[in-house]
Amino acid sequence: MLNPLAQELNTTLKNTTPGELLSDLGLRVFFPKGIIAQGAEAKKFGKVANATIGTTLTEGKPAILEAVHKYAPELSAGELVAYAPTAGLPYLRALWKDLIYKKNPGLKGKEISTPVVVPGLTAGISYLADLFIDETKPLLSPNPSWDNYSLIIETRRNSQLHTFNLFANDGFDLESFKTAVEKEAETGFVRVLLNFPQNPSGYSPTNAEAAQIVRIIRSVAEKGAKVLVWDDDAYFGLNYENDIYPQSLFAEFADLHENVLAVKIDGPTKEDFVWGFRTGFLTFGGKGLTGEHYEALEKKLMGLIRSSVSCSSTPSQSIALRAFADPAIDIQKKNFRKILEDRYLEVKKFTSSHTSKNLEALPFNSGYFMSFRTKVDAEQLRQKILHEKQIGTVAIDAKTLRVAFSSLEKEQIETVYSAIYECAENM
Ligand SMILES: Cc1ncc(COP(=O)(O)O)c(C=O)c1O
Repeated sequence: MLNPLAQELNTTLKNTTPGELLSDLGLRVFFPKGIIAQGAEAKKFGKVANATIGTTLTEGKPAILEAVHKYAPELSAGELVAYAPTAGLPYLRALWKDLIYKKNPGLKGKEISTPVVVPGLTAGISYLADLFIDETKPLLSPNPSWDNYSLIIETRRNSQLHTFNLFANDGFDLESFKTAVEKEAETGFVRVLLNFPQNPSGYSPTNAEAAQIVRIIRSVAEKGAKVLVWDDDAYFGLNYENDIYPQSLFAEFADLHENVLAVKIDGPTKEDFVWGFRTGFLTFGGKGLTGEHYEALEKKLMGLIRSSVSCSSTPSQSIALRAFADPAIDIQKKNFRKILEDRYLEVKKFTSSHTSKNLEALPFNSGYFMSFRTKVDAEQLRQKILHEKQIGTVAIDAKTLRVAFSSLEKEQIETVYSAIYECAENM
């Protein structure tokens, strides 16, 4: 039996694309009118006293130990130790939404949901998998992909990761993408994940490729398939070449067609160099969806958050909120991005001037990484590089070796890449 609150949300989403895309758990989940909802109500109307939430208040403020407060004295007790709302600090959510519009001019005039805070992009992906993936609802993603997708989709959700080939010649394999999307569409549904700049390849589509990707999705939507597009924008903004499509593809998908629901997974993790903050956002966009639909999706997400981590970390959100309002942040980010770009250029210089019978650099133009397609076993090569040269790399699968140039000093790049090529040559 479905809980009546779940039923209510499902009724709101009835005959919409998101409603038709929900998984079994997605249909069941709801945000209870329990402690959190009653606490929020009490905050508004409990003028005499609020005896709802399990925190310690002294003089109307959260109690904070001096031993804790002394490490972040500029932040108030509320900014440090109070529980954040289930969907995140409201000002931070509003600010991030403004930033999404600012960073993606193509979204102008398009209605999107208010971003929901999740504890990092990984958690966001996992919640989306809860909401839209189950044993009968597979996800299409590129090969190669970030390995955590498989852990989430296959191991955790007991579903399947269907794949398309990411590269053909020197760019995005549009043919493989089209074939795979059309095959999914035969079931009436397409759930597809796109991640640019990509992990592990460090590739982002050119303007021309982006237009084709959008056209392929539009085409199956026009023929009646319900399409869910996940845009994993973890490395947003780290573009090092001129002809790269300059914004998130979410800007295209957010109002592409009534049969398309787009969801943007992003956050400050890499964009703002705060990997351990565990702060991320989920934002929906779909043509014809109203505020009521977005709110129903938000409530479902809140149910997933409440039933797992309850809410995201408050200090991280408070610091992010203050940092985003700091006028110096843009120039500081620019400086770090320049460091990454210099490393990228150094790697490009090496790979374009060296050849190896056992290594082929996959196309790369953005992000943190580049990968080699290896003719030898990538894990054996990784071991050799690690034990003979004391250099760590990652074997993504039997024929893909990933190098995170983001964590190499520019001066180390020549040494590291020479060692990789030498080891590959000697196998
Ligand atoms: C493609 C991709 N998505 C998501 C993430 C995870 O981000 P977070 O650390 O915020 O969970 C990563 C991080 O490695 C990533 O490479």
